[in-house]
Amino acid sequence: MTKTLLVTGGAGFIGSAVVRELIQNSDYTVINIDKLTYAGNLESLKSVENSSRYKFEQVDICDKANIQRIFNDYQPVGILHLAAESHVDRSIVGPGEFIETNIVGTYNLLECAREYYNQLTDKSQFKFVHISTDEVFGSLGDTGYFSEQTPYDPRSPYSASKASSDMLVRAWYHTYNLPIVITNCTNNYGPYHFPEKLIPLVINNALQGKPLPIYGKGDNVRDWLYVDDHARGIILAFEKGRVGESYCIGGHNERTNLQVVETICRILDELQAKVDKTSYSEQITYVTDRAGHDYRYAMDPAKIQAELGWQPQEDFDSGIRKTVKWYLDNQEWVAHVISGEYQSWIKQNYSGRDNG
Ligand code: NAD
Ligand code: DAU
Repeated sequence: MTKTLLVTGGAGFIGSAVVRELIQNSDYTVINIDKLTYAGNLESLKSVENSSRYKFEQVDICDKANIQRIFNDYQPVGILHLAAESHVDRSIVGPGEFIETNIVGTYNLLECAREYYNQLTDKSQFKFVHISTDEVFGSLGDTGYFSEQTPYDPRSPYSASKASSDMLVRAWYHTYNLPIVITNCTNNYGPYHFPEKLIPLVINNALQGKPLPIYGKGDNVRDWLYVDDHARGIILAFEKGRVGESYCIGGHNERTNLQVVETICRILDELQAKVDKTSYSEQITYVTDRAGHDYRYAMDPAKIQAELGWQPQEDFDSGIRKTVKWYLDNQEWVAHVISGEYQSWIKQNYSGRDNG
């Protein structure tokens, strides 16, 4: 009998990378709990869906009866909690779902996990790993790094909802002794990334001859990590992370948004040159800045490197090339995931700006 892990949000961008990693490179049985919002796509799991160690439960994390049933039926050794509303721009135009899923949903999972954990005879293995973000720390100036010691200072509805969920997770540890670990990671990129986030949006728009929208001047800085490196970090945090601790994850790959977009254009110019030989960079368009746009994120991952031996395998130059190639080879996936719901959201919220 293999051990069972619950993964919430396993049909999303990072969750699907975690599920693929667990099925392909471990012995765990994986129960993927996902509501399948616009961001969840079972097509991202085609390579593992026939494994006898993989099962899918289409369930909302706010649904207490079903989450209790899943804990009881599968008797997991842990839960990796990734399900969330994850897009900052959506949180600005409609914060309600972020409060519901990210805060109330996490509360519900914590309560169900606590109930399940309390009746376990062998409590030694169980862990609740909560996947959070560097955005809870706020915005940096030109220098310095976030670390486990950085005070929380969330500034968008998304990051405030994630910070709230982190606080609940810590409270369940201190008050109820629920064994938790928190990870706070930087911006991820890679295959199966929904094309509303900067990197996949730019690749997709470039190929469709559409504008490449850069908020403000394009000088905001993000610290990019290839998604499979994050997935391995999450699994390490479950297997070796110290209970009650948090681990910051990042690969020291800071780029301005303009640098990211120009790099994508250069790779596309090389791999899929336009017939008229003009550069994709001519499609760059500066648009109105995001409200409350955090200036810079950058992470110091020293703790997870020293304590858990985590090291990223990809740097930005190799990872972004792999990613662009993946999108060129997987246009069908892109066409399928850009659903009617996504197109109508873009129309409602970005009229006059061509984002999709
Ligand atoms: P995503 O938006 O691609 O996927 C989220 C998944 O959660 C989807 O499959 C969706 O269907 C599911 N989901 C949403 N609401 C749900 C609900 N109520 N019940 C069950 N399932 C639900 O997100 P992502 O980019 O893969 O991020 C995953 C997690 O990692 C999130 O918690 C996010 O805050 C965190 N994170 C993301 C990044 C990043 O760069 N994308 C970086 C650090 C941390
Ligand atoms: O830092 C981790 C976070 O990274 C995660 O917690 C979030 O879930 C994830 O969505 C991501 O948040 P960002 O807001 O940093 O990612 P996004 O891809 O939306 O934007 C990256 C940068 O690019 C940001 O500075 C805004 C800018 N941008 C974004 C879009 C969509 C543009 O200039 N143009 C765009 O069209």
